[in-house]
Amino acid sequence: MKKVRNKKRAIGLIALLIFALFMVWRLVRPLHFFVVDERFARPMAVVIPEGLSSLSAEECGGCHEEIYAEWSGSMHAMAWTDPYFQVDYRFDGSQQICLNCHIPLENQQENRVIGFRDTEKFDPILEPNPDFDADLQQEGVTCAVCHVEDGKIVGPFGTEDAPHPVVVDREMTAGINACQKCHVISGERWDTFLRIPPCGTVAEIEEGGREIECLECHMPAVTRPVATGMDERDGRRHLFRGGHDPAMVKSALTVSHEIETGPKGTRFALVLTNTGADHYLPTGTPDRHLTVEIRLLDQQGELLKEEKHTMIRRILWRPFIVDLTDTRLPPNQPRRFDFDLPSDPATPAGSLEVTVSYHLLEEARRKRIGYQNREPIHYPIYLRRFPL
Ligand code: HEC
Ligand code: HEC
Ligand code: HEC
Ligand code: HEC
Ligand code: HEC
Repeated sequence: MKKVRNKKRAIGLIALLIFALFMVWRLVRPLHFFVVDERFARPMAVVIPEGLSSLSAEECGGCHEEIYAEWSGSMHAMAWTDPYFQVDYRFDGSQQICLNCHIPLENQQENRVIGFRDTEKFDPILEPNPDFDADLQQEGVTCAVCHVEDGKIVGPFGTEDAPHPVVVDREMTAGINACQKCHVISGERWDTFLRIPPCGTVAEIEEGGREIECLECHMPAVTRPVATGMDERDGRRHLFRGGHDPAMVKSALTVSHEIETGPKGTRFALVLTNTGADHYLPTGTPDRHLTVEIRLLDQQGELLKEEKHTMIRRILWRPFIVDLTDTRLPPNQPRRFDFDLPSDPATPAGSLEVTVSYHLLEEARRKRIGYQNREPIHYPIYLRRFPL
């Protein structure tokens, strides 16, 4: 009897030990929270179209001046040089996979991918790339990333007046394919339990039952010559504005307020609605968040009472990847914040101050990765003082 009991205990202990080791491994393992899809598993091999001498945006810009100027001011042009990306990339162990969206062309990368050591494709086998072009690397998500297919330039018109071969591909020019390549990742892994994938801009639009469309807002329509000296055409501005552009973020937010006086006293209600984006506000990396601060000041401007709310998506990364909360603003669903106004005759209230801010990342994360920002990592998108 005793022998059997000892054996059972030993098995129990071994099982417990295995489980404990498994959990420790879950806590220290390299963190992969997305699936490497065929779309971005490898850098893109592209051929320089006939009539052009390089793939460089600068060369395109010689004839497509306005588009070049717009793109130059976008985060696509900075997808590699962006100092936040550079710090984060090194902090994450300089993984090759990051390059396939931030500098996706083969010749933008110092190494070629010749195979993979793992089935998940996070561990590529590399060899030096003799055609590496350091200037092209600086251009991040450059023109050729969206516009070159099989040695031809993809566009919406099928023009015969271009000095380069042209092909029409509606899937690309409707913007859906062009954007989904990098702005959608699949989060369906065995250890991942998320409602929508991280950076799930497209999934957020699908959730609202809307048609997936990006260009109306991110590449506004314009009529102008698309190349120097040509006739006007209906085209699109290459602005790609997002979280780095306060005016763009402001355009997504509608703010209203009311002051109600009831039997229990006076209450201020602030209502925020995402009326300008088809996806969540904010969207993109889970770093992005909004805060709202409501401050009650006395007649001398001294603080009497303060409340702060954060609209953010919080994910538990270890031991398993699970959604904790998501308080961001889905499209067209008003979010109400109540603030009770204390009525103390000794300190009569003077005014209420409301600030809504957009944050590119949290201060704690900025410190952890050692990012010495020159630009502010947050900025106000709504600021108002209500006299009482
Ligand atoms: C030497 C001048 C020149 C250079 C360099 C040049 N293009 Fe063009 N491109 C043109 C002209 C001219 C047109 C025709 C415009 C028209 O028909 O209104 C054109 C048309 C296009 C179109 C629209 C095609 C269509 O029919 O829908 C796209 C897209 C395009 N170019 C992209 C590029 C890209 C990307 C580069 C750089 C890799 C580039 N071009 C380099 C002159 C140039
Ligand atoms: C090859 C990959 C790739 C493709 C294709 C792509 N993007 Fe991006 N996009 C990026 C990367 C990478 C960034 C982030 C750059 C950074 O901030 O370092 C970005 C950033 C953005 C931003 C945020 C700007 C900001 O202010 O932070 C917007 C908006 C955007 N892209 C829209 C689009 C749209 C619309 C399309 C389709 C027409 C598209 N992108 C296609 C990779 C891509
Ligand atoms: C992130 C993807 C992306 C990048 C990067 C990009 N474009 Fe485009 N471009 C598009 C899409 C999508 C359209 C189709 C818009 C439409 O239907 O009018 C387009 C359209 C065009 C057109 C046709 C005229 C027009 O206004 O629609 C030209 C010319 C052009 N792009 C040139 C460029 C040049 C030059 C660069 C680099 C400086 C560039 N593009 C970078 C996605 C991109
Ligand atoms: C109805 C307009 C609208 C549509 C449609 C739309 N967006 Fe946006 N987008 C916005 C506005 C406004 C913002 C700024 C506020 C915010 O972050 O939500 C924004 C922000 C973004 C950002 C910034 C996140 C960051 O990290 O800076 C990205 C990326 C983005 N959009 C991608 C897309 C993609 C991809 C699509 C299509 C699948 C799309 N958007 C469709 C209006 C739109
Ligand atoms: C599937 C394509 C893809 C891959 C792979 C990818 N990124 Fe990105 N990255 C994006 C896009 C798209 C954006 C901008 C939109 C957003 O906020 O989601 C972005 C934005 C970022 C930003 C925010 C930049 C800013 O200025 O706010 C950082 C930092 C970043 N990526 C780092 C990385 C690192 C590090 C890796 C590798 C571990 C990586 N990315 C891999 C597509 C990708």
